[in-house]
Amino acid sequence: MKNERILVIGALGQIGRELTMALKKLHGVENVIATDRVDSQADEDTGFRVLDVLDKAAFSALVKSEGITQIYMLAAILSATGEKNPQLAWNVNMQGLLNTLDIAVEQKVEKVFWPSSIGVFGPLSPKINCPQFTVTEPETVYGISKCAGEYWCNYYHKKYGLDVRSVRYPGLISYKAKPGGGTTDYAIDIFHAAIKEAFYNCYLEADATLPMMYMPDAINATLKLMQVTKEKITIRTAYNLSGMSFSPAQIAKAIQQHIPEFKICYTPDFRQEIAGAWPQSIDDSYAKADWGWSPEYNLQTMVKDMLHNLHNISETEVQKN
Ligand code: NAD
Ligand code: SER
Repeated sequence: MKNERILVIGALGQIGRELTMALKKLHGVENVIATDRVDSQADEDTGFRVLDVLDKAAFSALVKSEGITQIYMLAAILSATGEKNPQLAWNVNMQGLLNTLDIAVEQKVEKVFWPSSIGVFGPLSPKINCPQFTVTEPETVYGISKCAGEYWCNYYHKKYGLDVRSVRYPGLISYKAKPGGGTTDYAIDIFHAAIKEAFYNCYLEADATLPMMYMPDAINATLKLMQVTKEKITIRTAYNLSGMSFSPAQIAKAIQQHIPEFKICYTPDFRQEIAGAWPQSIDDSYAKADWGWSPEYNLQTMVKDMLHNLHNISETEVQKN
């Protein structure tokens, strides 16, 4: 395999931490430069740098000095936080992507990964098995930025031949890093609350079904998409991607099978309106056909694995104290 030089931007986030580890395993620790706007004392390992994706000069200099061949641009302001600060969300999500695309073209970076989201869909999109090509019309700043971002990726591919690849991740569930202000974060918070106090007050309604995915599947999908030959990529906006779909009531029931005393109540807030405009399930047949995508986890296997790992983490923490 060719010696790739990888740059991860937004590497301290929910996806970034796990994707960076997977990329180091694949390409070698010394070939992966993990960056974020904030510093991290926990990341004293090789290759961590501070980089604000909006600082185009510093970004460009780093790509040049490190001979970067692939960029994973994960920096973003997510849907719920974005509604509280629309200008910031637009600036980071849009200008951050445009800086990435420009620098990649200027410096002949071979491949770029930038994630889109189910947030591109809106109330007029089909709710069940939402197709790849359909009405989008997002109603959040986050969704508008992802929708525009998809078209910019397609534009840079068509106009400059840039090999930029993208997926519309569903809500991602993981235990290794905290989520960063999304509408789907309840599906992570619920595990911590169930283990800690056997009770969770959910900010979505009981039947707010959403497309979700367990992090190991999201990492696999990302690596798979980035490894496939470019001739197989027929979509240069972003591929629909599906893992599982469930509502707060359904995940609560699945948790109760392991923690019978667990109880949930519902106090919907502004995030219910965001969730209510998104599809309940996604048709990812293009990802399956083009690059052989297939998820491993369903609701039951994901819940079992999450609880197992979170129990292990709390036991290690207890032992340390
Ligand atoms: P996150 O909020 O956990 O992490 C984002 C990271 O970006 C943070 O570490 C933050 O410090 C960093 N960042 C913010 N502004 C920056 C800047 N100006 N320069 C450099 N870094 C900056 O987000 P995540 O969940 O890891 O999401 C990563 C990507 O995946 C985003 O594009 C997001 O839209 C997309 N996505 C995530 C989900 C999900 O459920 N987590 C679903 C769909 C799409
Ligand atoms: N999980 C993300 C969010 O809720 C979807 O992109 O913002």
